[in-house]
Amino acid sequence: MNRLKTSLGKLSFNNPITVASGTFGIDYQQFYDLNLLGAIVTKTITPELKKGNPTPRVYETECGMLNSIGLQNPGIDEFIKTTVQDYKHFTNPLIVSFSASTIDEFCEMLTKLEAIDFIKGYEVNVSCPNVENEGLAFGVDEKIVYQLTKKLSELTKKELIIKLSPNVTDIVSIAKAAEEGGASSVALINTLLGMAIDWKTGKSMIRRGVAGYSGVGVKPVALQMVYRVHQAISIPILAMGGIQNYQDCLEFIYAGASMLAIGTSQFSDPTLPITIINDLKDHFDSNKITIDEIKGKVWGIA
Ligand SMILES: Cc1cc2nc3c(=O)[nH]c(=O)nc-3n(C[C@H](O)[C@H](O)[C@H](O)COP(=O)(O)O)c2cc1C
Repeated sequence: MNRLKTSLGKLSFNNPITVASGTFGIDYQQFYDLNLLGAIVTKTITPELKKGNPTPRVYETECGMLNSIGLQNPGIDEFIKTTVQDYKHFTNPLIVSFSASTIDEFCEMLTKLEAIDFIKGYEVNVSCPNVENEGLAFGVDEKIVYQLTKKLSELTKKELIIKLSPNVTDIVSIAKAAEEGGASSVALINTLLGMAIDWKTGKSMIRRGVAGYSGVGVKPVALQMVYRVHQAISIPILAMGGIQNYQDCLEFIYAGASMLAIGTSQFSDPTLPITIINDLKDHFDSNKITIDEIKGKVWGIA
């Protein structure tokens, strides 16, 4: 019996572990067989090539890291021609992350991706600026998240995951908007806004100043968001934020996650997702439990 079996809305997985968009690439196959992952999630692609932000654009903090990569990617056409073809032969589900600056652009991208049958689902990155709404991120406005999700859900029958930004007043209302718009699941959290300054010189450690904060320090924030979102919606959750080991995964499952993504922690140990899958298997087998039996079942006081 495979006790690690899990699913998001329309997709089933052999285990609940995947990789967080932007922290992983095909070159990880030099470390392990990528088929061992529950699913593969690609780096966010955009309509056109993005060269990324100028350096310095990453900085290690006390409890995580700051990044300001700037969605560096080859653009969708090049991605379809080359990058995505490298994933063709994997047997686990491939989920493609994408982002754009207008709702129409999002729809055009989805239409192009729909032509590729081995893409099994989409993770929609709504943390990017919406040029039709004063450059505010799509993900901060529940009406826009609803409209965007509705349009995208009308264009595909594949798994449609809306990846939520934590940099909002009320993530629960945004998650509900995604559900009402027809998302089959939500992913959370993307990076928090953060900053680091050299106290000796007063200079920013990141060229752009403000950056995305991820890693172990964000885990409690991510956990409460997963918990509150799970209480409020019925669609499944792909959780991420500071996961370092199988115990962290269990916390997120108790909070309500169906699937988990490993991000920043892979930079110090690229094989960590596999270690976590094996540790989770041991835990579930020795305790004779399944994910569904403990999902969302946080209870009492420790
Ligand atoms: C270097 C780096 C690049 C990232 N690029 C993307 C990206 O392209 N698209 C996206 O949706 N999230 C991106 N993220 C956010 C991660 O997917 C994840 O949501 C976040 O880092 C929280 O998980 P973690 O603390 O385990 O890293 C990036 C994070 C890092 C550290």
